[in-house]
Amino acid sequence: MLRAGSDWLPDRQGAVFRVFAAEEFTMFSAKLTFPIFLLSFCALACSDDDVVNVLPPDGEEMPGDGNGNGDTDNEAQVARGKYLVDTVAACSDCHTPRNAMGAPIMEEYLAGAECFVRLPNDSCLNARNLTNHETGLLNRSDDEIKRMIRDGVRPAATGDEALFPVMPYYVFHNISDADLDAIVAYLRTVPGVDKAIPRRGVEFDLPAPANYLDPSLIPQPMSEYPDQAAAARGRYLAAEVGICLECHTKHIMGDPNVLDYAGLFAGGEVYEIGLPTVPVSKNLTSDMDTGLGSWTVDDVVKAMKEGTDKMGAGICPPMPVGPMVGFGNLLDQDALDIAHYIKSLPPIANQIDDVCVFPPLPPPM
Ligand code: HEC
Ligand code: HEC
Repeated sequence: MLRAGSDWLPDRQGAVFRVFAAEEFTMFSAKLTFPIFLLSFCALACSDDDVVNVLPPDGEEMPGDGNGNGDTDNEAQVARGKYLVDTVAACSDCHTPRNAMGAPIMEEYLAGAECFVRLPNDSCLNARNLTNHETGLLNRSDDEIKRMIRDGVRPAATGDEALFPVMPYYVFHNISDADLDAIVAYLRTVPGVDKAIPRRGVEFDLPAPANYLDPSLIPQPMSEYPDQAAAARGRYLAAEVGICLECHTKHIMGDPNVLDYAGLFAGGEVYEIGLPTVPVSKNLTSDMDTGLGSWTVDDVVKAMKEGTDKMGAGICPPMPVGPMVGFGNLLDQDALDIAHYIKSLPPIANQIDDVCVFPPLPPPM
């Protein structure tokens, strides 16, 4: 149950999050359930000048561009990992700290964001340092890193700890072995940054990881959808290695499933991120009246790559839209496949009012 009067507060990095009253938090912790803080990834209401792409210092070719330029297998794997980390899975959105304007601090690329979530008592959940430094993942084995990403389990001196499910391991659980290998291979190449991230506050301790999303629950393309192969590829990108599903599904606080399984992709997650209006994630299902039934595949591609909706209006943060950043860097084929999958989603009626205009309009004269 979300309390109507809960506050939202920005943290130092400009990320934003829902803050529950401390007693409410304790109450849920005591019931061994999961208080869920809904995070925005970029959550910036800043000007274009402030928006900096989250890319590692040494850019590499995008994978899969088919130009056969003689990459070794390992180079191709690392490039795939980089693409997943920076674009599809948006790891860098959460794991790179931000300056006061909300722009990522590139000298600390992937070095962790302190106080990603802050409670009213100043207890924090910190996005961790993933770089090749002893304060990061340097001394972790590949298997340990994979368990943290895919299972939400962190080995600690005192035994295994469950990660708090702001880290979307319950979605990443369905990442393919090859892609998980690629992510780890890429993380091994990220320059080490000396940045000790404190352990999270005890309020975020959990008895067990959140429930992993059962892949059989992820909607299948409607049987009458013409391009089944593209939609099937898009399903993996949107709901297993990527996080469209995570943002476009209402989260239920106190539920170890985290997501409202009855409304996958039907929108309704609320983002109080300091904009003049409060964005709510939209219903992406093909319902004619309340979803994207009347959108074309190209409309959906444009939303991701250019950040504009069917009518040409800007899409509000926290969705990491293009053109220069976030989903703007999706490979054309991947963006098309995701759009086919979105267009193939079975309809769910769920009206989400269009409350957000971006960039915000000047106040009326
Ligand atoms: C929505 C924000 C978010 C996204 C997206 C995200 N993470 Fe995290 N991640 C976190 C937070 C917060 C923690 C800390 C969880 C805790 O301490 O309970 C974390 C913890 C981790 C850890 C544990 C590290 C340690 O030493 O404790 C690893 C590894 C990790 N993330 C890797 C990734 C990778 C790889 C991706 C992309 C595939 C990713 N994360 C995407 C927020 C995020
Ligand atoms: C961090 C959360 C987040 C992620 C990740 C995200 N979205 Fe969104 N998305 C939103 C929010 C919030 C809105 C509503 C913004 C507004 O009101 O302007 C939105 C709007 C949209 C719209 C416009 C719909 C309409 O009716 O105007 C489309 C299309 C869309 N998202 C598709 C996607 C796809 C496809 C993905 C994955 C590639 C994705 N989103 C990932 C949060 C997210």
